[in-house]
Amino acid sequence: MIALNRNLLSRAVIGSCLATAAGVIQIHTADAAPSTVTAAGVTLTSESVILPGSSETFPGGAAAQVVNVNCIACHSADMILNQPALSKVAWQAEVTKMIKLYKAPVNETDVPAIVDYLANMKPQP
Ligand code: HEC
Repeated sequence: MIALNRNLLSRAVIGSCLATAAGVIQIHTADAAPSTVTAAGVTLTSESVILPGSSETFPGGAAAQVVNVNCIACHSADMILNQPALSKVAWQAEVTKMIKLYKAPVNETDVPAIVDYLANMKPQP
């Protein structure tokens, strides 16, 4: 069985998966009682897990458009939204890193608006 770090568990209740003898994956709701299946001397028991939720897009309507277009192809919006409040200079360096190191396909003309959005996401320290 795969062990998940329960410290990471939060919002979305994914339910449980049971691999049947026929190889079919069944998804159960979280409140379903654990079930087991035995075949060929192997017993599989269903487990309920709760995985972290994830914001799919950045909030902020039209102003967020530029980050929604450029910054969620490779990782979640949450990953960026959960960063600490950073200065404009720090966000500029981060965006440059994404472009140069990870080859993020960002149009140079979008960079100032991206940096502005990111620097204004949270109150500056
Ligand atoms: C081409 C893929 C790609 C795109 C597009 C992309 N990133 Fe990343 N980003 C990465 C990778 C790879 C990592 C490193 C992930 C890891 O270490 O687990 C990362 C990590 C990050 C991190 C975590 C801190 C760090 O430096 O590792 C932040 C913040 C971040 N990206 C912001 C952005 C922003 C803002 C944009 C939009 C301008 C963006 N990313 C677009 C690939 C991308």
